[in-house]
Amino acid sequence: MASKYYNYTKSNELYKRACKVIPSGLYGHQGPAEGCWIPPTSWPFFTDHAEKSYFWDVDGNKFIDYMCAYGPNVLGYNDPDVDAAAIEQAKKENCVTTPSTKILELAELMVDTVASADWAFFMKNGNDTTQGAIMCARAYTHRKKIIFVNGFYHGVSMWTQKIDYPGVLPEDVANNLYVDWNDFEALEKLVAENEGEIAAFISTPYLHGNFYDNVLPEEGYWQKVRKLCTEKGIVLIVDDVRAGFRLDLAGSDHFYGFEADLICFCKAIANGWNVSALCGKEFLKSSMSALSYTGSYWMSAVPFAAGIACINKLKALDAPKLFREKGLKLTNGLKEVAAANGFNLVVSGEPALFYLRLADDDSLLIHQDWVQEMVHRGIYITSHHNHFLNASLTDEDIARTLEVADDAFKAIRSKY
Ligand SMILES: Cc1ncc(COP(=O)(O)O)c(C=O)c1O
Repeated sequence: MASKYYNYTKSNELYKRACKVIPSGLYGHQGPAEGCWIPPTSWPFFTDHAEKSYFWDVDGNKFIDYMCAYGPNVLGYNDPDVDAAAIEQAKKENCVTTPSTKILELAELMVDTVASADWAFFMKNGNDTTQGAIMCARAYTHRKKIIFVNGFYHGVSMWTQKIDYPGVLPEDVANNLYVDWNDFEALEKLVAENEGEIAAFISTPYLHGNFYDNVLPEEGYWQKVRKLCTEKGIVLIVDDVRAGFRLDLAGSDHFYGFEADLICFCKAIANGWNVSALCGKEFLKSSMSALSYTGSYWMSAVPFAAGIACINKLKALDAPKLFREKGLKLTNGLKEVAAANGFNLVVSGEPALFYLRLADDDSLLIHQDWVQEMVHRGIYITSHHNHFLNASLTDEDIARTLEVADDAFKAIRSKY
């Protein structure tokens, strides 16, 4: 669709070029094939540079970015303190035959910071941590089955895939059991039906899936789950890859008043420098040590140096409090602007990772159209995924977002 605002001529040319040499051109979230109906011609595909809360695409359009690289931008793009630590370390060494002491410093910092952590094991992506957690739980319990919450996303390992996805065998997911979020009775029943066979219950701290309103834990839910897992010898895994450090620097389990046995971190550790971490309880340390589990870049020093600087800065800023305040200011403002234009904007999830849905149309097409109008005016949001805040977002950015939202609501009001 041609826009009287932004256009993406270069992005689209580059995308066509990419399709020739990269399967699907761009894959995952960054690609146009993620299940929404916004035409690819309405979307920037390639960025040129980024700073703080903004990125500029290859056509020169500037965006206030509420996706934050789907999480890693937690302090602001190109944070000077994190980047200085990374660059200083890069001058000394990065990927070397034996690791630098930065691995130890970051492990100590994670253990000091995360309430349920007695140890930290570093990897690269969130998927590495969830895979490691499942293997560790199976190694410890000598059991096969894993309980998942319907609507989950824990990465791309075979066991996380769905049975009808290409390339997946029934046996890859044969030991998966599924339960609805917040349904403790169903969980209890499932555990009873599979007595002595369940290695782990894995869940995000709250339900923050795609294409539906996000759902917080009911009062007492996590405490009941914790008790059940302890009684039945089930390893309780919290996948904090997405929410980690945005709700609470001590972990989202701490935020909701319980302790996980294993907790997965990734996106907010190092402000975009690539490192993830599985943290765990003492009783699981020897099972983790026993795994055949490592990678070429897992002990590279530069992301560790960045992680140390990032976590210390998040602490100095009391970032979770900041995210909550900014998130509430922004989302309350958006709801008001929507209402003033006759729309019902539903905001769900935690303010630091808010999810948006226009409740005026079940098909979500009006919502997607509004998202398109926002993006065309320089506010980068998505139609079907939670958003992320970063610490460099200013009150002026929020004010500008509300101004644009008003204009975008008026544009769709004139259409529908
Ligand atoms: C909750 C959750 N778990 C796991 C993952 C997988 O992380 P990665 O894409 O870094 O492998 C993601 C990624 O978005 C996630 O949101």
